[in-house]
Amino acid sequence: MRSPARWFFVTYLTTPNSLQKEESSNMSGKVAKLAVFLVLVVSVLVLAACPGGQAPATTGQQGQGGLQVGIVLPTKDEPRWLQDEARFRELLKNANVSVEILFSQGSSATEKANVESLLTKGAKVIIITPHDGAAAAAAAEAARKAGAKVISYDRLILGTDAVDYYVTFDSVAVGEAQAKYLVEKVGNRKGAPLYLYAGAATDNNAFLFFEGAWNVLQPKIVDGTFVIKNSTAAEALKDKPKLTRDEMAQIIGQITTNWDFNTAKNLAEANLTAAKKEDKGDVFILAPNDGTARAIADAFAVDPDVTSYVITGQDAEIASVQYIIDGKQSMTVLKDTRTLAKDAIDAALAFLNGQTPPKTTTYNNQKIDVPAKPTEVITVDKSNVKAAIIDSGYWPADKFTGLP
Ligand code: GAL
Repeated sequence: MRSPARWFFVTYLTTPNSLQKEESSNMSGKVAKLAVFLVLVVSVLVLAACPGGQAPATTGQQGQGGLQVGIVLPTKDEPRWLQDEARFRELLKNANVSVEILFSQGSSATEKANVESLLTKGAKVIIITPHDGAAAAAAAEAARKAGAKVISYDRLILGTDAVDYYVTFDSVAVGEAQAKYLVEKVGNRKGAPLYLYAGAATDNNAFLFFEGAWNVLQPKIVDGTFVIKNSTAAEALKDKPKLTRDEMAQIIGQITTNWDFNTAKNLAEANLTAAKKEDKGDVFILAPNDGTARAIADAFAVDPDVTSYVITGQDAEIASVQYIIDGKQSMTVLKDTRTLAKDAIDAALAFLNGQTPPKTTTYNNQKIDVPAKPTEVITVDKSNVKAAIIDSGYWPADKFTGLP
C-alpha cells in the first residue's frame, strides 16, 4: 500500500512529552546539552525559512514534513472514547505515519478548533467522531477547503458533502442485538414492563440504535409481550413497524440520556417515581450503551418494587464487563475498537496514497451517500463473557474479579 516515496518518520505528536523523556533518558550530560543546542539552532533556521514564522509540526524524511493524520474524538468523559484512543496508540506504535489525537470534550466549538489546529499543522486526513453530527459539518467543510480528506469515525457527520468515508460498526445491528436479547429473555410472558432509553439526539447513531431496537421490539409490543412504561410517544406509535426520523425524534426526545450518566440516572429515577407498583416487578430495560446502562441499572436495583431487571448495554467497557460478571448488567454489545481503529488508519493511508478505501455500502448523511464498510458486532453476556472478552484478547483477565 505504501510507496517508498511515502516513507515517513514515526512521530508521536500525541505523546510529545513522553517521547522527549525517552529521548533525553538515552542521553546524558554534555551530549544532551549539545543535542539541545543543535535542536535549537535547527529550529531557528527552520522557523526563519517558514512563511509567517510557523514551524512545521513534525518533520519527515525526503522533504515530506508535517502532520499527516489528525484524529478528533468527542470526549474523555466516556470510557468508550478512551478505548478508541488506546487502540489508535497501540496501532500507531508500528505505523509509519504521523498522527495527533485531540478530544473535543463535548463541545462542537472545541471540535472545530481542534480540526483547524490539525489542518494548520499540515494534516492531510482528518478523522472525526462528531460530538454533534450536524454541527460538525462546519469542521468537515474547513478540512475539505484545506484540501484534506475527511473520515467520519463511528458517528456520521450530517448535512454536508465534505465527508469522504465513514468508518463504522453496523449500528442498526447494535440496536437489534439489544432488543433480541430482551425478547429472548422475556420468553412467552405477556404484559412485561418495558422501559426505553436512548442516546443523544445530536448523535445520528442514537437513531440507528433505536431503529434497530424498534425493528425487533415493535412486533412484541403490538402482540402484548411488552408494555412500554416510560414513553407516551412510543406507546402512541406502537402500531408502526417503520418510524420516520421525526417520529423517532419524538420518542428519543422523551427517553434520551444524552449519553450522560447523570441524565440517565435522573431520568430512570423520575420514571420509577412516576410508575406504579404494578408497572415494576420483573422489568425489561433497553439501555443504549454501557455508561447509561450502569447508571440506569443502579437506579432500578434500589427500587423496592423492582424484583428483577434485564438491561442491555453497548461497548464492552471494563466497568460493564464487571457488572455483567456480577449480574448487575445483563448484556453488552462488543464493538471491537481494534478493528475500527485499524479500518480508520487503513482508510487514512489509502487516501494519503491517492487510493480509495473499501466500500460495501453507503450511509445517507442527509446530503450525500457516504461510502462505508461497516463492521459486525457481538452480543456478550455472562455465558460468553470469557470467550468474547478475555480469550479474544479484548481486555486482559486481570482487569476483572470473579470471572466465570
Ligand atoms: C455512540 C457510539 C457508542 C456510544 C455512544 C456514547 O455514537 O457508537 O459506542 O459509546 O456514542 O458515546
